Amino acid sequence: MAVIGQNISQAKRVLDAGELVAIPTETVYGLAGNALNPVAVASIFETKNRPSFDPLIVHIPSLDVAENYVIDIPDPLRKLAEQFWPGPLTLLLSRKNTIPDIVTSGLERVAIRVPDHSLTLELLSQLDFPLAAPSANPFGYISPTSPQHVDAQLGERISYILDGGKCRVGLESTIVGMEENEIVVYRLGGLEISEIERIVGEVTVKSHSSSNPQSPGLLESHYAPTKPFILGNLEELIAERKRQGIDFAVLSLAQSFPAIPTGNQIALSTKGDLKEAATNLFAAMRTLDASNASVILAELMPEEGLGKAINDRLKRAATKG
Ligand code: TXA
Ligand code: MG
Repeated sequence: MAVIGQNISQAKRVLDAGELVAIPTETVYGLAGNALNPVAVASIFETKNRPSFDPLIVHIPSLDVAENYVIDIPDPLRKLAEQFWPGPLTLLLSRKNTIPDIVTSGLERVAIRVPDHSLTLELLSQLDFPLAAPSANPFGYISPTSPQHVDAQLGERISYILDGGKCRVGLESTIVGMEENEIVVYRLGGLEISEIERIVGEVTVKSHSSSNPQSPGLLESHYAPTKPFILGNLEELIAERKRQGIDFAVLSLAQSFPAIPTGNQIALSTKGDLKEAATNLFAAMRTLDASNASVILAELMPEEGLGKAINDRLKRAATKG
């Protein structure tokens, strides 16, 4: 079983030995290994059961370190880094060959970010290498936002989980890059589009095209609970399941349902606050997935602010067909 603790020296020892540590970030927990060591990176893919064509994000302690790994940083992206790092922003930048092929699945660009968590920033500043880290969940399942989530699924496969408490943002980072002179968002995430546009002007969002060769990892079905996960109008979905006599659980933004057992319903934010909803989303999905209901019913959020990124995750989690 994994040890859960706050010992940075122990985390460093494990990473220096080429092994993996789960690390806290403000978005979700990462499954981290030495990004410059292809064997360590290979074991990330193996531990997560992740296909090797899905590239990894490289975590660094500060913007100035990026120069060791990228050829250049276009002006608008530099402005974003200066404004939002440390924070829930990942940049796609042309890589130097200091970054092994296995990290980027052979792509020309490497995904880089500075996470906003004091323990992980301290760890990164003590290491001689950056950390490659995907979310610390088995491939296709819901991302972890607490050390207990990591332990429940990967605890048998890793020796140390650095305990940074619950993740503040709760959604993965927003991924941004450039094509010609266009600024492109490849994954909606914890940094709102409006915040990005405030700094660099209008951006193009491409995150929904599953055939986009620039982001092979953004597979459509993802973040999925094991139970069927149905999106729609809650009143209608509930009425239908009642008629059919099917046990269900309900995930809402703010509403509670007096006729449904409290253990079978979660409101993400009773005051309808989308930031709070984002923070609670993945933990709520896990809790309902572990309930005795046979299906989870959920509603979309308003398409504004973080609601867009939450909806992206809800749609990817939804049962198709
Ligand atoms: O908030 C986050 O970004 C978290 C924490 C741990 O930092 N990490 C995370 O990693 O969400 P992961 O592996 O679950 O998702 C990263 C996604 C990949 O699915 C892939 O599509 C995209 O980032 N990506 C990574 N490198 C890329 C590259 N070189 N080109 C295009 N897309 C890339
Ligand atoms: Mg992931």
